Amino acid sequence: MTPNIIIDCDPGHDDAIAIMMAGQLTNILGITTVSGNAPLSLTTENALIMTELLNLDAEVHAGASRPLMVAPRHAEEAHGRSGLDGPDRPEISREVASNDAVGFIIETIRTNDDIWLVPVGPLTNIALAVRQAPDIVDRVAGVSIMGGSAGAGNVTATAEFNVWADPHAASIVFDAGFKKLLMAGLNLTHQFGIDEQLIADLRTLGNRASLFAADLFDFYLASHRKRTHGQRAPLHDPCAVLAVTHPELFEFQSRSVRVEIDGAHTRGMTVVDERGWGEEPLNCEVEYGVDRDQGMKILLQTLSAYS
Ligand code: RIB
Ligand code: CA
Repeated sequence: MTPNIIIDCDPGHDDAIAIMMAGQLTNILGITTVSGNAPLSLTTENALIMTELLNLDAEVHAGASRPLMVAPRHAEEAHGRSGLDGPDRPEISREVASNDAVGFIIETIRTNDDIWLVPVGPLTNIALAVRQAPDIVDRVAGVSIMGGSAGAGNVTATAEFNVWADPHAASIVFDAGFKKLLMAGLNLTHQFGIDEQLIADLRTLGNRASLFAADLFDFYLASHRKRTHGQRAPLHDPCAVLAVTHPELFEFQSRSVRVEIDGAHTRGMTVVDERGWGEEPLNCEVEYGVDRDQGMKILLQTLSAYS
């Protein structure tokens, strides 16, 4: 059965690919945007670019322009000034459906059963929705996030960007008690990397989605290599979509996961209890492994459907 989802994002190159995949593999009830990789105005414009490019019916609702408590932070070094550097920036005619992403999330969950929330940016909108309407926690089928890590961080030695950018929001979401909370952390997404071969395969596909993705990846791969020693650039956000649509690609382990708010060196760290006999509730299905080659095959098949 095709899952009904709300994708909450901060496009962002990998968010854009997550939208492309969700557009074919799921029924997107709405796209909500949040400040993250770029300021809210740009992440929202970038989401509109994606819905217009892909001719998706999904509405875009703008959300939080800043985290709950810490100052806004962006990732220009990874995604460029626009948040979607690389391809020529298309003109768009579409506009946001509302500036009330949180209200949209609450209303949509209250009037539809079995919705998956797929947040792939800072968790500010989701935390605000849970705080305003705690009843939505039991109503959703599950939450599949890209965020955190059961290993090293990226922004700091211990913290991953989405959680680090709004640790208070992440703490609310991890502690909310969702019946299913799937976590695609950096320990997982660094197993799902793109390279020149994939970019060549996308250019061979040759439709508007795959060519736009190839232009995105040219920038994203070069930017990753400039900043790290990694040969392949991790394709983070599509993992959160695939964990819902193709769970058989992943190895999940039930874990207790808490978010560090105050640590001098660990603020924004997802503290994953690996002991197996801790007292804390096992609140999260943490992803430890993924079949990368099969996942990339699905990515190419999915993008070929836009021809
Ligand atoms: O740390 C990776 C995450 O931060 C991804 O969601 C990327 O888009 C950025 O938001
Ligand atoms: Ca993102």
